[in-house]
Amino acid sequence: METISETLAAAEEDFRDRFPAYTTTAKVDELRASEYSQLDERDHVYLDYTGGGLYAASQLRRHMKMLEGGIFGNPHSQNPSSSAMTEIVEGVRAKVLGYFNASPDEYAVIFTANASTALKLVGESYPFGPGDRYVLTFDNHNSVNGIREFARSKGAGIAYVPLALPAMTVDETILQSFLEDRQEGAHNLFAYPAQSNFSGVQHPLEWIERAQKLGWDVLLDAAAFVPTNRLDLSQWHPDFVSISFYKMFGYPTGVGCLLARRQALAKLSRPWFSGGTITVASVQGDKHYFAEGATAFEDGTVDYLNIPAVKIGLEHLEAIGIETIHERCRCLTGWLLEQIIALKHANGRRLIRLYGPATAECRGGAVTMNFYDAQDQVINHLDIEEAATRSNISLRTGCFCNPGGGEVALELSKT
Ligand SMILES: Cc1ncc(COP(=O)(O)O)c(C=O)c1O
Repeated sequence: METISETLAAAEEDFRDRFPAYTTTAKVDELRASEYSQLDERDHVYLDYTGGGLYAASQLRRHMKMLEGGIFGNPHSQNPSSSAMTEIVEGVRAKVLGYFNASPDEYAVIFTANASTALKLVGESYPFGPGDRYVLTFDNHNSVNGIREFARSKGAGIAYVPLALPAMTVDETILQSFLEDRQEGAHNLFAYPAQSNFSGVQHPLEWIERAQKLGWDVLLDAAAFVPTNRLDLSQWHPDFVSISFYKMFGYPTGVGCLLARRQALAKLSRPWFSGGTITVASVQGDKHYFAEGATAFEDGTVDYLNIPAVKIGLEHLEAIGIETIHERCRCLTGWLLEQIIALKHANGRRLIRLYGPATAECRGGAVTMNFYDAQDQVINHLDIEEAATRSNISLRTGCFCNPGGGEVALELSKT
């Protein structure tokens, strides 16, 4: 009888034959040993990457060294420690633009606490009014869904573009009919995830230009996409892009950004002002004047001691290469899909039902499924999570803040 290690070795050989490109990502194995050694030390299998990425040990070391060696003050002053910090924060802003290949003439980087705060900035400031539209796909994260409350309160119409099972993709003809259903000259906002955090589907980035040509502003939620894919903002020109940096490189938490096209930013109207966002405000004059560009959207003090760690994180990704990360993810996801879909009970019944694309094409690494017993009864996801926990595997269960994805997958209707 074959031992477990023989079975694993045979499986690995088969995997490497089927996905030869995996070999080109060998440097990730070295990194795993040198930078993420806690995984092996703790015998842990971490699979919750859409929840949050893992950080490399060198990211922490570089950040701590910088903090230890400097005197950094609140950037809202002019003194030397403050000016030093302002320079660093502006350097990170430039780094973020460079990483996404975004022209500083076209895009502004607004630092936020996370992707949700970036999305809220758009929602609360977008000039929705009667006759305007907010259209979004069913598989958005709740922080994109939540924008509908701003749209509703200002009298705009709201519509969800449906998804088709089993791949949970959008029918292009249906999308076209939603995009054509708008008033000329109205404020129309179309939001979708570049990658769904529910199904892993990567919706076409070509939709951006298509929607814009029909008079829509496009909000691309890239939070789940950018950790393993290149987003080139010289090729694609969404009006707004939301990002959480910890999903890309694990550390720091508490920093995200809204990448906004300057022309789209000019349309937004902030519902309040706060410290840091204005040039002048008067108590007696009852007036305030907003600062230019990104500054008007950064409420209070930015997370200035953590922002430098964003540059360190981006440099870490660049050193590995996002194409290498993408390829690694594609190979592993392709293999997982092939293997897990083929699993059957002894009586021939399926073990899982997949929600999302069944191959590694047009999808990312988030693989969502339900497990079934031999009588074809669904197994409670909490039992699956408990079993995984016993084996030291971190995975995510539930509906992932993506109720539309869950409703489509489980074929739940409104009534
Ligand atoms: C696609 C997508 N959008 C937005 C978010 C919200 O990110 P955060 O919780 O960091 O604000 C997430 C988080 O999982 C996500 O996956």
